[in-house]
Amino acid sequence: MAHVSDLIATDIDQYLRQHETKSLLRFITCGSVDDGKSTLIGRLLYESKMLFEDQLAAVEADSKKWGTQGGEIDFALLVDGLAAEREQGITIDVAYRFFSTDKRKFIVADTPGHEQYTRNMITGASTADVAVILIDARKGVLTQTRRHSFLVSLIGIRKVVLAINKMDLMDYSEKVFRTIEDEYREFAKQIGLEDITAMPLSALRGDNMLAPSDRMPWYHGPTLLGYLETVELDETRLQGGSFRLPVQWVNRPNLDFRGFSGTIASGMVKPGDRIRAQPSGRESTVTRIVTANGDLPIAVAGQSITLTLADEIDISRGDVISAAEAPAEVADQFEATIVWMSDEPMLPGRPYLLKLGTRTVSATITEPKYKVNVNTMEHLAAKKLDLNEIGVVNLALDRPVAFDAYNANRDTGGFILIDRMSNNTVGAGMLHFALRRAHNIHLQHVDVDKTARARQKGQRPMVLWFTGLSGAGKSTIANLVEKKLHAMGRHSYLLDGDNVRHGLNKDLGFTEADRVENIRRVAEVARLMVDAGLIVLTAFISPFRSERAMARALLAEGEFVEIFVDTPLEVAETRDVKGLYRKARRGELRNFTGIDSPYEEPENAELRVNTVGCTPEEAADQVIARLREFGLIH
Ligand code: ADX
Repeated sequence: MAHVSDLIATDIDQYLRQHETKSLLRFITCGSVDDGKSTLIGRLLYESKMLFEDQLAAVEADSKKWGTQGGEIDFALLVDGLAAEREQGITIDVAYRFFSTDKRKFIVADTPGHEQYTRNMITGASTADVAVILIDARKGVLTQTRRHSFLVSLIGIRKVVLAINKMDLMDYSEKVFRTIEDEYREFAKQIGLEDITAMPLSALRGDNMLAPSDRMPWYHGPTLLGYLETVELDETRLQGGSFRLPVQWVNRPNLDFRGFSGTIASGMVKPGDRIRAQPSGRESTVTRIVTANGDLPIAVAGQSITLTLADEIDISRGDVISAAEAPAEVADQFEATIVWMSDEPMLPGRPYLLKLGTRTVSATITEPKYKVNVNTMEHLAAKKLDLNEIGVVNLALDRPVAFDAYNANRDTGGFILIDRMSNNTVGAGMLHFALRRAHNIHLQHVDVDKTARARQKGQRPMVLWFTGLSGAGKSTIANLVEKKLHAMGRHSYLLDGDNVRHGLNKDLGFTEADRVENIRRVAEVARLMVDAGLIVLTAFISPFRSERAMARALLAEGEFVEIFVDTPLEVAETRDVKGLYRKARRGELRNFTGIDSPYEEPENAELRVNTVGCTPEEAADQVIARLREFGLIH
């Protein structure tokens, strides 16, 4: 092949044509400090003549200056020189180097060798087809080798080159090579890496880099470049998947055109295909696939396109457009593997930003289920994750997102975590599955909505949330309020503690955890009923502020009316209609609210009804009056 700069200078068209037809292999090199990674990349670049003369001249001069033995080119210096160039101005973690041979084009993700952090490696690996794992023949398999290999496996790279470098320093010994290879294969088996090609190399002296080395006649495998040029590409992997388009932006140049742009993460699409917008669940049909070079009859994974749809449906940046017959899952809670990449440890319960595809949401992480010892693959108990640690956790998001399991789709199943304060990437992760409650539930869009149903009933749906001690009068007052609403022609429903606990919640008792669950279910049911257009009255002690706040948060602004039925304990206890206070005082009833279980009074209730000195009838009138005052009823 002619020197690249000559060719570019003389015949740019021929140069470009040569490149167009060749396949592209993306690979990553990983290793530890001083294992010769820069030398290896430098030699590949040099040998493939992908350097411009001035760069070459500079390196040759530098090599002389630093007195590299025998006038050899210092390839490491070459790459580091490029790195220095790159680091001026912007800081990026990974440099992608391009080179090409007669057979193929290559992009190698080069992550600085001195950099111990896993972050760079993950960024570089996320698009790679092959991982070249470097080993210094003098040192053998190190912890870093194991960690990187585990990450390679987690990231989903299936093909590994075990590049056992610096063989020249070990007398080109077959025994050294085999010992390292055996040890590595043993480890690789445990982490599910199967396609491993081990090679004895000297990147510095060129052994087995491009041509088979006559210093290691015992090796009959491929050379490094030979392997990279011929290894089979998994190009169909993404195209074979179901159609996914994470929406990067909505294109609306004028009123007649509305397109959804992004890069297809997997599968293919053509006009006429049914699609589903996620997480909303709305469906439509593709009308056009627009690109800068005109409309396409079909588009596949990796292409950047703009889709137009037959219907005006609401899709915004961060949504995913999926094949309607094989949509992504939608959930807000997951199990995931996380690789922690920050000096500050990962703390359970702290909100981080989670970026999945083009969507960023708020996420909290539970205490790790376990972390992994990368040397032994043992699962260890953990309270947090420190720098470089890998663990399995549950994640809870503040809203549902469309996703696929990472092993089905790297793009729609891989995410990064960002610190809210510093904006730094602090972790990377792979989604395993949605937790049982959120699993496989697609939000189904419905056309008859709350507004339509409420309008038909001629009312504003809402929840009147009565809270107070047992025997405070919640049920009595709620009952009277409902009668009055009914008489006014309102459509209502009363959810009462004693009744609900006989049916929906009959599995629950009165421990703190059971009360929390009791209220959670009631709040969800109330929300559904509000969605149905009803005025819902709930009469539960609901002793904890946080659960009442949760119920409030489930509803729209103004839909939640908290009514504190304020009856002092002594009064409720004297009434003791059900005889429960007496039982509790005798110690026959545990966890009784007000006796040995707390009641947290509301601080900002919409209405406080003092039942001492007023009849239930008067209390109910107060409630109705307050609803009128708020404009909630007329
Ligand atoms: S809540 O705390 O979970 O909101 P809820 O309103 O459903 O309680 O049920 C309270 C009713 O259950 C009381 O009115 C009373 O009749 C009955 N009850 C039985 N045991 C207890 C208890 N340990 N504490 C409070 N109420 C109890």
